[in-house]
Amino acid sequence: MNDKQWVAQHAARLVKDGMVVGLGTGSTADYFIAELARRRIKESLRVTCVASSVVSMLKAQRLGLQLIAIEHLTQLDLFVDGADEVTAEHTLLKGQGADLVKEKLLARACDEFMVLVDQSKLVEHIGARYLIPVEVMPFAWQLVKQSLKEYGGHGALRQNSNGSGLAVTSYGSLVLDMAFDPKLDCVEIDAILNATPGVVEHGIFHGLATRVFVADKGGVWEMETP
Ligand code: A5P
Repeated sequence: MNDKQWVAQHAARLVKDGMVVGLGTGSTADYFIAELARRRIKESLRVTCVASSVVSMLKAQRLGLQLIAIEHLTQLDLFVDGADEVTAEHTLLKGQGADLVKEKLLARACDEFMVLVDQSKLVEHIGARYLIPVEVMPFAWQLVKQSLKEYGGHGALRQNSNGSGLAVTSYGSLVLDMAFDPKLDCVEIDAILNATPGVVEHGIFHGLATRVFVADKGGVWEMETP
């Protein structure tokens, strides 16, 4: 088993019978979905799931997990997802995938948001390893980029994985991968992006994660709550 599998298994053990569970997106979330499905069969665990992406939905469906559409969600016990960066304050950077909108909706709606990472995702500050993904309405990208210049914002539209064109999110948006004035911290950048017209969503998840589990060489530890 690799570290992502260890931490996914650890989180899946914390799921209780009858819970409504949000499924994240990415390789760690995939392992979590697989473990949840295994518990359903082996331990008759009853859960209702809601997926943050088409990929997670298809995986959960294939493994026999019961799903409801996000449109019908009124209450969410738990959301479990990976992240690209995590600070000691539990602020996350997400969005290397293309499903930020549902991920943030579920992170905000749930009673508990468990984040699963390996040691390599721990950073001193947001933006240490990745640019900040800013999902924009397709017609707005130029004006958004222009208005973020005031905050030292610079970057470019994300290319798709084979480099043949632009990356398009699940909801038809474009993604600007941006860096900002290093004097700004992630809380300030979060507020700026939240207030910028044309921005659909962005990758800074501040004040949302309630528990962060870190896998390291076969062991799992929980980050101290800030
Ligand atoms: C999806 O949009 C991302 O936010 C993922 O949560 C992130 O990329 C983590 O992926 P892995 O679990 O594959 O590292």
